[in-house]
Amino acid sequence: MTDKNDGKPDTIAVSAGRMSEDHFGAVNTPVYRASTFLFPDLATLESRQQDYVYGRRGTPSSASLEEALCALEGGARTVLVPSGLNACATAILSVVGAGDHLLMVDSVYEPTRDFCDKHLRRFGVETTYYPPTADISPYLKPNTRAVFCESPGSLTFEVQDIPALAKIAHAHGASVLMDNTWATPLLFPAIAHGVDLSIQAVTKYVGGHADLMMGAITANENHAVRLVNFHGTTGLFSSGDDIFLALRGLRTLPVRLKRHQETAMKLALWLQARPEVTRILYPALPGDPGHALWKRDFKGACGLFGLELKPVSQTALAAFLDGLEHFGMGWSWGGFESLIVPAHIRRTVSPFASEGPVLRIHAGLEDAEDLIADLEKGLLRLKEQS
Ligand SMILES: Cc1ncc(COP(=O)(O)O)c(C=O)c1O
Repeated sequence: MTDKNDGKPDTIAVSAGRMSEDHFGAVNTPVYRASTFLFPDLATLESRQQDYVYGRRGTPSSASLEEALCALEGGARTVLVPSGLNACATAILSVVGAGDHLLMVDSVYEPTRDFCDKHLRRFGVETTYYPPTADISPYLKPNTRAVFCESPGSLTFEVQDIPALAKIAHAHGASVLMDNTWATPLLFPAIAHGVDLSIQAVTKYVGGHADLMMGAITANENHAVRLVNFHGTTGLFSSGDDIFLALRGLRTLPVRLKRHQETAMKLALWLQARPEVTRILYPALPGDPGHALWKRDFKGACGLFGLELKPVSQTALAAFLDGLEHFGMGWSWGGFESLIVPAHIRRTVSPFASEGPVLRIHAGLEDAEDLIADLEKGLLRLKEQS
């Protein structure tokens, strides 16, 4: 079935899961829209000895993407779900049960926090938070079943020491779950660094074109059966059309990520030298508090970073943001286009100190000089309104 699932990561991204021989040589897996798969006879139907038995339980489309992502992650199994947030929720639900404790990083994507605070409690699961750069040992409880990480945090960009954290969690008998959307498996091989369930909001860089919603969870050997069984009994599914788009995005992910990083670095360095900017939050930047860990564990950076402005009025901030030509304002990232939003940071155990507004930039694939010129004009507007 498989084309090529080995080689270096860039080769895997291009080759894995294509299954061309099953599709008359077509390079791309076509869109399979199917609820019903027919069986040739009663014996096959009763034994279910057929690759595809029912649309919700998988199609050649989902098998292609799962296989490709799994090969890239270096995991044992990957499952697809309808969104990145659902991937976080599903990964958590696949490991915790009533009476368990979940240790959650304080810099986590806010809707993941909401899921824990609003729903896990109802099911008898307690969630407490730990600072992203803390030693987790004092935060573990006898019933801690899972430790959730997100590195770097997608608003504040602290880098976590995942190998050290995983060692402590595993010695305690807890599973390690990680939202690996910022780096993707190309830039941070989460499973090789000790993560048990690696989560990807496919919506972002894998999709890469701002036109689909999807999530993926990849399990290591120890967690694969449990994840697949849980996923299979909860009715989670992704459509063939969205999977086609995700596969198309995946094939160009390595080259896109390189360009996103290159442009983000140019913007970050330019912004760092501006008098209106207090600091840049980007672990790839030398001097960032997470730079040494990032350099040790990551193979690169994506295009998402933060910056803190000196205190300004809301009117001045609006003059800056509203007039930008090449940066859209939208709550996402990972597409080909540049974006900018104010970061609304919510923390409970490790306050994030900032005097001025914190912004989040997604550096897209436009020419960096155009983006810088746009920001320069924007900062002039900001100054005029200050
Ligand atoms: C770090 C992170 N994880 C997960 C998600 C959720 O992804 P989705 O929007 O596909 O639910 C997001 C979305 O912004 C995110 O930034």
